[in-house]
Amino acid sequence: MKKILVTGGAGYIGSHTVVDLVLNGFQVHICDNFNNSSPKAVHAVEKILGVNIPLTKLDLKDKSAVGNMFEHGDFDGVIHFAGLKAVGESTSKPLAYYENNLLSTLNLLDACKKYNVQNFVFSSSATVYSDPAVVAYDEETTKTGKASSPYGTSKLEQEWILEDCVNGAEFPAGLRVVSLRYFNPIGAHSSSMIGEDPRGIPNNLAPFITQVMVGRREFLSVFGGDYATEDGTCIRDYIHVTDLARGHRLALEYIEKQPENSMEYINLGSGKGSSVLEVLHAFEATYGKSIPYKIVSRRPGDLPEFYAKTEKAQRLLNFKTEYSLDDMARDSWNWQKSNPNGFE
Ligand code: WQD
Repeated sequence: MKKILVTGGAGYIGSHTVVDLVLNGFQVHICDNFNNSSPKAVHAVEKILGVNIPLTKLDLKDKSAVGNMFEHGDFDGVIHFAGLKAVGESTSKPLAYYENNLLSTLNLLDACKKYNVQNFVFSSSATVYSDPAVVAYDEETTKTGKASSPYGTSKLEQEWILEDCVNGAEFPAGLRVVSLRYFNPIGAHSSSMIGEDPRGIPNNLAPFITQVMVGRREFLSVFGGDYATEDGTCIRDYIHVTDLARGHRLALEYIEKQPENSMEYINLGSGKGSSVLEVLHAFEATYGKSIPYKIVSRRPGDLPEFYAKTEKAQRLLNFKTEYSLDDMARDSWNWQKSNPNGFE
């Protein structure tokens, strides 16, 4: 049975991926610093699965703690989710983002090198794409070297570091990397026991909508109604977090069959764009009532429209999304309804 270290395994995507991995025969070890997640998410995962998940609370910036965990870990692979991830915050705190995200990855790679861990799945993001002239992004779109925020740039830079390590000669067993670039994950596990639980005012659309539905916020501000799209609101590619979690497992299964040194960039999205109002209407359908909203001014940095080209994920991973936008809205809502205050 393969043993996988999942960094950030208590987070939104991490926790769902742990469920998928264990259900498919992987052994999992979680590490998390709980800066933006709750140990209760790990307890909920254990309840869903009926097994205990080994957990190390640590900060990946602490190199000796990372080394210690690897020394006793006997890991066959790593899925690296942990990191700071708020686009807006990264603009005001670029140094914190570069320091946290880059140092964490460097320390993990150093431990992989020392302890001969060859398989590495990296949690990247569609935010590495920033060219407004392109709509459906394929994996070759980004060679320009800059994303639209320090957060996005930190993801690009981590990809470069990984690629350089794959091409270098420091890893005695070689290094095989898949960098998964996700589009907009929403939804929650069908048990409603885990889901997205942002701290403070949500930056992202779905948790904001469900907090309005549950009465924690008065109305949704729709950022811009005058884009050159059919209904004037921005178009994004939403993907159910359960589909996304499965994509990580498929990436691990794929990576094991690759040559000693290899790197692939793979989009995980549905390939279909939905506008903000379409998303809102999907939530209204599951709610059975209308959801108050106001169209306000555009959010700086938002692109009018983007979605994934999905051929590569299909070809290499045999990955195709299974859940619809209605499924995503239903599951996000069920999670929030059962946990109005998240894990608190
Ligand atoms: C979606 C749409 C907003 C909130 C970000 C990151 C991306 C990825 C996912 C991590 C946009 C609109 C939102 C609100 C709104 N994360 N919106 N009112 O910006 O597409 O992507 O999260 O890697 O990298 O950039 O997602 O959920 O913030 O916004 O109208 O209160 O909803 O303008 O069109 P985004 P989002």
